[in-house]
Amino acid sequence: MEDLKNIKNNFIEKLKNNLDLDQISQIKTELFGKNGIISSQFKNIGLIPENERKKFASDLNYIKDELQGLITSKINEIDIKKINEKLEKEKIDITLPERPYQRGKIHPVSQTIDEITSIFSEIGFSVEEGPDVENEYHNFTALNTPDNHPARDMHDTFYLDDNKEILLRTHTSPVQIRTMLKDKPPFKIIAPGRTYRSDSDQTHTPMFHQVEGLHIDKDINMGHLKGCLNYFIKEFFEVKKIKMRFRPSHFPFTEPSAEVDIGYEIKDGKIVIGEGNQWLEILGCGMVHPNVLKNVKVDSSKYQGYAFGIGIDRLAMLKYGIKDLRAFFDCDYRWLNHFGFDPLDVPTNYRGLSR
Ligand code: PHE
Repeated sequence: MEDLKNIKNNFIEKLKNNLDLDQISQIKTELFGKNGIISSQFKNIGLIPENERKKFASDLNYIKDELQGLITSKINEIDIKKINEKLEKEKIDITLPERPYQRGKIHPVSQTIDEITSIFSEIGFSVEEGPDVENEYHNFTALNTPDNHPARDMHDTFYLDDNKEILLRTHTSPVQIRTMLKDKPPFKIIAPGRTYRSDSDQTHTPMFHQVEGLHIDKDINMGHLKGCLNYFIKEFFEVKKIKMRFRPSHFPFTEPSAEVDIGYEIKDGKIVIGEGNQWLEILGCGMVHPNVLKNVKVDSSKYQGYAFGIGIDRLAMLKYGIKDLRAFFDCDYRWLNHFGFDPLDVPTNYRGLSR
């Protein structure tokens, strides 16, 4: 019995020292290894006189548990110490001032889309989206453009398969179809997004941006279309007066159809909107063709309305004095730095759109 107590005290003392993991594991073997001190004591139980054996065994178990517990907590202590040291070393001082950095700019096209969305949402339009990769049905057929209609050639379509069924949308008008198939009238939506045509020069890029507008209700007429566009253009260019003209045109999905030009002039090398006698075409529009309404199961004897498609990039060029459309898509950081917008300057109608 004395023996056991000595063993215990002896090892408790040893474990009080500042030990590393190797030393602890050595002590563990010394105690509990195959020929370890405690293990040997267990082997000796048979040699203890019978009347003392029970107590000896119980004491031995007790001491074994105690020493094992000590060793485990010693190991935990070392682990925690290691973790704390690591945390201390890897600590990030969040009180450090930020490093000077260059803030990114919002691309003028994104800014323009935000402005357009803000203007139309003021008069009750909500925003819809459609996929860039469209099928032939939504892009042409449902829009009253039959297979051999010349308008299909007009669009210089990028087809993605040999059967000419999958394509990159040539305009945002398929979103009209998707919206009307999805919901019930009335509809009052805009749909900004990317569009694609095989075309490239100073005023055309293979990828460009449009915003579609669609307003279908019981008593919508061409006067509403004119009022809406008039409001939009004045708001967009932040001017009180605008010169705008409707030219008769043709689109398979509208009847009657028109193209809209806005008047401008160049003064001291700068574009002035709403004056002068130069015209720039910025959008196509018209009253939605009854065949289109039929295709999307809208009763054209009850509902009718207008649609328009505005070229966003052109508007951005005009408003921000950007001369070559291709610069939009060059990804030249210096250009973006000059023409881009502060990310915190979110356009709103109240605060001003482009300050
Ligand atoms: N989708 C036509 C285009 O891209 C524009 C348009 C839209 C015309 C809606 C009429 C109505 O040229």
